[in-house]
Amino acid sequence: MKNEVPKKNSRASKSSGTWIEPEHEAALRAEPIGFLRSGKRSKFSLPHQPIGKQDERNVVELLGGKQFEQALLDLAGFERVWLVWWFHRHRNWKPQVLPPRGPKRKRGVFATRSPHRPNPIGITPVQLIRVEKRKLVVGEVDLIDGTPILDIKPYIPAIDSFAQSKAGWVDEIERAQDEPARFQVTLSELAEAQADYLEQEWGLEIIEDAARRLRADPNPHRTRRIRRHEKGFLMSCGAWRVYFTVEGEAVEVLRMAPGYPYEYLVDPEKTRIADRQAQIAFRARWPEE
Ligand SMILES: C[S@@+](CC[C@H](N)C(=O)[O-])C[C@H]1O[C@@H](n2cnc3c(N)ncnc32)[C@H](O)[C@@H]1O
Repeated sequence: MKNEVPKKNSRASKSSGTWIEPEHEAALRAEPIGFLRSGKRSKFSLPHQPIGKQDERNVVELLGGKQFEQALLDLAGFERVWLVWWFHRHRNWKPQVLPPRGPKRKRGVFATRSPHRPNPIGITPVQLIRVEKRKLVVGEVDLIDGTPILDIKPYIPAIDSFAQSKAGWVDEIERAQDEPARFQVTLSELAEAQADYLEQEWGLEIIEDAARRLRADPNPHRTRRIRRHEKGFLMSCGAWRVYFTVEGEAVEVLRMAPGYPYEYLVDPEKTRIADRQAQIAFRARWPEE
């Protein structure tokens, strides 16, 4: 894929502000070479990057009938490979996003590894355990089950690693964090569906903010807006509520809910309600039990 400066009398067409030769334009259409099989369906419970914490096995299954067996020859000697993949469970891109770590501050999406990119392409260096015909058995991943794989490249430390390079705002938050987060946060199936709905349909990243706060400390606290509720806890996140339980260092988000009562939401006199339409739609989809 290469963007060309148009030559005089070139057949190139103008596409999104850059000149691309027609033969290259066709090459812009990428197709999956295979899919990841990880059994992990929850995108909110995955690591943000695989950092060698989990000893696990996942499989990249390449498609048949494409000579991919030959394309995999000579890969077995590499300890790591780059997976280049498509964030298929992502819909909208955003110029600025709220990273899961550090203070509540949005960053330009190109300065992050967020899925919310104009071209939702992910890159992950994974441990290569073995190659079996058209399958790669790999270690820890940050991809959900069924993620389309676009390409595989060998990880070459001499080329791909610059461990001493500065890392901007990421360095800043690492320096500021005295203690690493103590609590692990997972989502129930219901909470996962609700978080996905708010993100995809309404562009609301409620769960990112909630998870960051819960990882730091889920204990009841007035200023953190956490209180006991039945057998668990309830945390306020802006106009939303997050219900969760804590066992040891494991926090499970059970469900989310709008913070405003229905009468408020439909009262035309109340003009300053945050996320009003999203709250009404959420209530219609998940009526209070
Ligand atoms: C922060 S991104 C980083 C991805 C990649 N390592 C990169 O740097 O480009 C990883 C997160 O993407 C989400 N994710 C994983 N697979 C996805 C998919 N197929 N579609 C949308 N989001 C996905 C999960 O929440 C995961 O924790």
